[in-house]
Amino acid sequence: MTNSPVSPWWSDAVFYQVYPRSFRDGNGDGVGDLDGVVEHLDHLSNLGVDAIWLNPVTVSPMADHGYDVADPRDVDPLFGGLGALDRLVEAAHAVGIKVTMDLVPNHTSSQHPWFQAALAAGPGSAQRQRYLFRDGTGPGGIHPPNNWPSIFGGPAWTRVVEPDGSPGQYYLHLFDPEQPDLNWENPEVFDDLEKTLRFWLERGVDGFRIDVAHGMAKPPGLPDMSLTGNALLRNSDDDPRFNNDAVHDIHRGIRSVLDDFPEAVTIGEIWVFDNADFAKYLRPDELHLGFNFRLVRADFDATEIKEAIENSLAAAELAGSPATWTLSNHDVEREVTRYGGGPDGLAKARAMALVLLALPGAVFVYNGEELGLPNVELPDDVLQDPVWERSGYSERGRDGCRVPLPWAGAAPPFDFSTSHDVWLPMPTEWTDLTVAAQERDPDSTLALFRRAIELRHGRGSFGPGVEFLEAPPHVLSFRGTDGVTCVVNTGTTPTALPPGDLLIASAALDDGQLPPQTAAWVR
Ligand code: GLC
Repeated sequence: MTNSPVSPWWSDAVFYQVYPRSFRDGNGDGVGDLDGVVEHLDHLSNLGVDAIWLNPVTVSPMADHGYDVADPRDVDPLFGGLGALDRLVEAAHAVGIKVTMDLVPNHTSSQHPWFQAALAAGPGSAQRQRYLFRDGTGPGGIHPPNNWPSIFGGPAWTRVVEPDGSPGQYYLHLFDPEQPDLNWENPEVFDDLEKTLRFWLERGVDGFRIDVAHGMAKPPGLPDMSLTGNALLRNSDDDPRFNNDAVHDIHRGIRSVLDDFPEAVTIGEIWVFDNADFAKYLRPDELHLGFNFRLVRADFDATEIKEAIENSLAAAELAGSPATWTLSNHDVEREVTRYGGGPDGLAKARAMALVLLALPGAVFVYNGEELGLPNVELPDDVLQDPVWERSGYSERGRDGCRVPLPWAGAAPPFDFSTSHDVWLPMPTEWTDLTVAAQERDPDSTLALFRRAIELRHGRGSFGPGVEFLEAPPHVLSFRGTDGVTCVVNTGTTPTALPPGDLLIASAALDDGQLPPQTAAWVR
């Protein structure tokens, strides 16, 4: 099966990433849930998004907030159970919004029945063949099988106690010890994933974001690695833990199932920065879309932004697949903070929102980005990300970008929940950032996103490339195939705009000129 010549819905869609713990709490237990999403679906339809990507809602002990899956074919009661997902899919479809889910094929939870069975069955058993169990090295096997670190810190191997009480084998976990890696050489693993794919697709789910899509396949013999540059989502391209060739067979298998559901999409989380390598994941019989993280890495600087765009477009062109664009997600610092925080950080984030939404391809907006939320400095005792503990309390982890959304009112929990005991504390100073407050303000970040998404939809499908125009230093100017030009000023002095109608600007113009830290669209 090849990619269809008619552009599929996702090729220029705006996806909204719902972080379910933090969007809206429908049952008052302090943690967001799926009925909360249903209640505030109007927020998403007013924003104009085409699709939702839900972070994991499947059954999980929540060691890594759902990325440790104990049952991939059921919804955790914390999020409302399977019935709540059905309600969401139905309500979203009724307003024309597609629903995509997170799929976690690299590992399971250590509470998954397969892993529990593997522990009980002992070395050499068929049950252990579903994971990566190995004997240790050195006298009595005291050293792990190789030197791989976990992405969250500490070794990637944990030693188990065998059923007879003796110190035993080690199992591999690229992430937390509660996330054992699956053995993708065992055909049972794919067979089970196929069941999961069909289970959700048959329930009406419109596709999957595939977690660690460059993981899964491990190199033969699990060789040692060079120990520089281990950090969450910053692994280098020569890291033997990721991007091994056999991963492409897995994607072909997944695609063969997806092809039975031609309207469904797969989007891979691919932390691979070599364009040719990245493009391999998007061959016609593999993933439909791949996250390209170059804009996340770029500073607010015209040259860096241009390079990121050029690179992402080049990778997409190599693959013959739509480009994807994102400024943030649940794993990285929010862009307002990345760009320096305060009013300047917000101004830059608003300008970048217009850059993002001017680009051809699929765009991903992260839960709260449309409100201009910054990262939150949280006290040590509320941190929950396993990174905090695993790094020996040196890396604070990702909780700061996962704080719940403020909906209304003048004090926490800002109508996120009826409970004051919210899973991560919300800052008292978010009064002006609530959805209700921003709805009253025509210059709010929310108003900017709504207008920009509306204009983007009005542009129809614009072609895959952009033309970079002559611009002064620190200014980036590019034109879409439909003639809409986006200009962003990352310098310190105002700059002229090209002639034409001003469609939108991220801040008021200064005497007809585009001020610093501002972007605009002109037609
Ligand atoms: C991905 C997810 C991240 C998670 C990790 C392990 O990178 O985005 O949140 O911790 O995979 O599943």
